[in-house]
Amino acid sequence: MKLDVLLGLQWGDEGKGKVVDFLTPHYDVIARFQGGPNAGHSLEFNGVKHVLHIIPSGIFHPEKINIIGNGVVIDPIVFKKEIEALKAKKTDMKHLYISRKAHLILPTHRLLDAASEASKGKSKIGSTLKGIGPAYRDKTGRNGLRVGDLFTSDFRTRYRELLDQHLSLLKSYGDPPDYQKEEEEWFESLSVLRSFTAIDSEYAINQYLAGNKSILAEGAQGTMLDIDFGSYPFVTSSNTVCAGACTGLGVAPSRIGEVFGIVKAYCTRVGSGPFPTELLDATGELLRERGSEYGATTGRPRRCGWLDLPALKYSVMINGVTSLIMTKADVLSGFDRIKVCTHYKINGEVTDRIPFDVNAEITPVYKEMKGWRDDISCNASYDSLPAALKDYISFIEQETGVPFKIISVSPDREKTIIRSE
Ligand code: GDP
Ligand code: IMO
Ligand code: MG
Repeated sequence: MKLDVLLGLQWGDEGKGKVVDFLTPHYDVIARFQGGPNAGHSLEFNGVKHVLHIIPSGIFHPEKINIIGNGVVIDPIVFKKEIEALKAKKTDMKHLYISRKAHLILPTHRLLDAASEASKGKSKIGSTLKGIGPAYRDKTGRNGLRVGDLFTSDFRTRYRELLDQHLSLLKSYGDPPDYQKEEEEWFESLSVLRSFTAIDSEYAINQYLAGNKSILAEGAQGTMLDIDFGSYPFVTSSNTVCAGACTGLGVAPSRIGEVFGIVKAYCTRVGSGPFPTELLDATGELLRERGSEYGATTGRPRRCGWLDLPALKYSVMINGVTSLIMTKADVLSGFDRIKVCTHYKINGEVTDRIPFDVNAEITPVYKEMKGWRDDISCNASYDSLPAALKDYISFIEQETGVPFKIISVSPDREKTIIRSE
């Protein structure tokens, strides 16, 4: 059996949560492989919207196994809140397992995140301030605390050692802020984390595959926020790309099956960094309002713009995408003309490559296409979609060389079109 991967091809918020929830009935196991509480994955069914941050988006299917992989960073306080919200909705979580090797976010990681951002002034990353960067830094610096450490007798001592390092680092930014109240809450929250089964998820996942169980790996963020391939330094701190599923779950590259790449019908970005097709005008505002483009984690307004093909082609290449999924096609309804960026103009030269320099002045070269005005949020079949939308889809397929298999036309689980062969 192979492991399928589902990931975002833009700057995050492509609709991963909705589509993972939709696809879960086809799988035995759903596994998150990277990121942490910086993610906000929304899904909707029976008229109720749910937002998940650390827990995989398969959790609303109680018979399925949900795993938080070793590549994820967990804030016990956020985890506890998420569990409590799910319990209040009577969600059955008896098959939720957590990797012993997943790293913990400490209260002081969040303080370090805030201090680092404040020190950057105008060039700040626009981090979600959830402590992601400092937690991954401790992981690669070989100082981190992991879920498995929670069950050892010297946990408090190791926590103290790391805390002392954090406090001296915080001093270099100025007077360290109070952390004691948060620390108390953090220690209280640990009991919830400990109440779930911690597993060697790499063994579990490979045993599931050997036993012919199907697995869907759920990515967080998007390729353009990847630590290696995104618009560095305006990125997150993990590998959001397909290879991240191998390191974040312990599966061999040869075990990867389908790679589902999710694309919003237009582009959005939260936080700082280059966004060549950003629309700072009334059209951008219209996309934001129609698409309810406000962050699921921070509530920040998302920057909006037209689809960026050079970025999409790059993401398809890096991830080896085998199937595309389009979300929010309904939000593009109502335009007479829509635009797609096919190339960038940089210093007078036309290219379809992503430049190394994040400060490069990019002028997008657009192809204009016919829009559509039909309300498609109730469409049940691919054939009944407006011809102009099908042309838009075909054009992206031609450019990327990858077929669209799913078109989402509403936040609701039911409003999802599977394209027949
Ligand atoms: P994720 O981080 O990739 O899971 O995406 P988010 O949940 O942060 O943001 C996607 C937003 O779009 C959420 O509010 C979803 O409910 C919503 N959404 C997902 N698919 C569709 C769609 O096809 N149409 C519309 N209108 N909204 C959608
Ligand atoms: P999902 O999984 C959109 C962005 C932040 C910031 C940068 C670094 O919901 O798609 P970090 O907190 O990771 O240090 O922030 O990355 N960012 C996201 N943007 N969706 C996300 O997750 C994001 N997670 C981080 O806005 O620009
Ligand atoms: Mg999101």
